[in-house]
Amino acid sequence: MDRPFDVQAGSGPGLLAQAKALLTGQRDLVANAANLSALLFHALEQVNWAGFYFLKNGQLVVGPFQGKPACVTIPLGRGVCGAAAATRRVQRVADVHEFPGHIACDIESRSEIVVPLLSEDALLGVLDLDSPVPNRFSPEDEAILVELADLFVQSVDWQDQAV
Ligand code: SME
Repeated sequence: MDRPFDVQAGSGPGLLAQAKALLTGQRDLVANAANLSALLFHALEQVNWAGFYFLKNGQLVVGPFQGKPACVTIPLGRGVCGAAAATRRVQRVADVHEFPGHIACDIESRSEIVVPLLSEDALLGVLDLDSPVPNRFSPEDEAILVELADLFVQSVDWQDQAV
């Protein structure tokens, strides 16, 4: 991207199209993670954190994000992110207060969705979104975010990254 990017609000196919436009032509991990987290944070309503954790030395380490400062490392299996990483399944949590071991990075967060980043069978990290609104994330949001996570994984030259 070499010109101003006009973020359009919304969570449907339009979001996917914007993400494709943003990531096309760039293969760098940090560049694409930073821009995708910014797109998600600004395009989606009622989201107070959007970003990435990457798998490094057997634990999740925070990557590019938008929102308040977050906890830096998360062991696999801990919290919502750790559960998504350990099970390799999306965690869509309607009320984080009900989730055993939830890690409160921002006390305003009430619901959360975490999508594992997978390449073939390899776990690369997770995409995490928080909301101050309970039950913010719908099955339709989940479907779009799963597509976005796959688009992101495909957009990066992972072998060239020092992760
Ligand atoms: N709430 C997450 C921790 C990461 S922050 O939300 C950014 C969890 O329980 O894994």
